[in-house]
Amino acid sequence: MMAWLSEWWSGGAAVVEPATFRDAARLAQLHGASFHRGWGEAEFEAMLTERNTLVHRLRMGRKTIGFAVSRVAGDEAEILSIAVDASHRGRGLSGNLLLTHLGHLAGRGVRTVFLEVEENNQPARRLYQRAGFTVAGRRERYYRQPGGEQLNALLMRRDLS
Ligand SMILES: CC(C)(COP(=O)(O)OP(=O)(O)OC[C@H]1O[C@@H](n2cnc3c(N)ncnc32)[C@H](O)[C@@H]1OP(=O)(O)O)[C@@H](O)C(=O)NCCC(=O)NCCS
Repeated sequence: MMAWLSEWWSGGAAVVEPATFRDAARLAQLHGASFHRGWGEAEFEAMLTERNTLVHRLRMGRKTIGFAVSRVAGDEAEILSIAVDASHRGRGLSGNLLLTHLGHLAGRGVRTVFLEVEENNQPARRLYQRAGFTVAGRRERYYRQPGGEQLNALLMRRDLS
């Protein structure tokens, strides 16, 4: 189906909004499809209850197709996870998700945001770079793949204000 037609059919453009407790199952499903070590429904329920965790969902029509999660500590925050459903990737939807999420962090008084990204994860690196993040450090063999392969992580940061 053509992009505009599928967008109309699914109920309009994507919106970013706070996730609720009832999103836990869907968020766990999206997370599990995007990462080797998926977070379960109970983990999302816990994060959706904790006051220092901020969770946004990306919704298209009635369907949640992405999320962003971060943890706040004082005036710093760490983005713990961000993902868009595979069938909706490559259309620039993550930028709005991330920028809206950052706006809410700023609204909470956060001044510096950190995140870790696997060095070869080009889509994620481009997303973060475009959103104003810069590389602040590198961690050798930080991620261990299910097959035993070890991958490097980049630590990125962005100041808000
Ligand atoms: C990272 C992610 C959220 C990006 O979502 P998205 O909606 O597809 O993002 P965009 O469409 O804006 O694409 C992001 C950038 O990656 C580029 N890109 C997309 N697919 C790519 C690929 N296979 N190789 C290289 N670059 C690619 C896009 O061109 C875009 O760059 P640009 O803005 O400079 O043109 C999504 O790919 C995802 O969920 N990945 C799995 C989970 C993950 O890795 N999360 C990050 C963990 S740190």
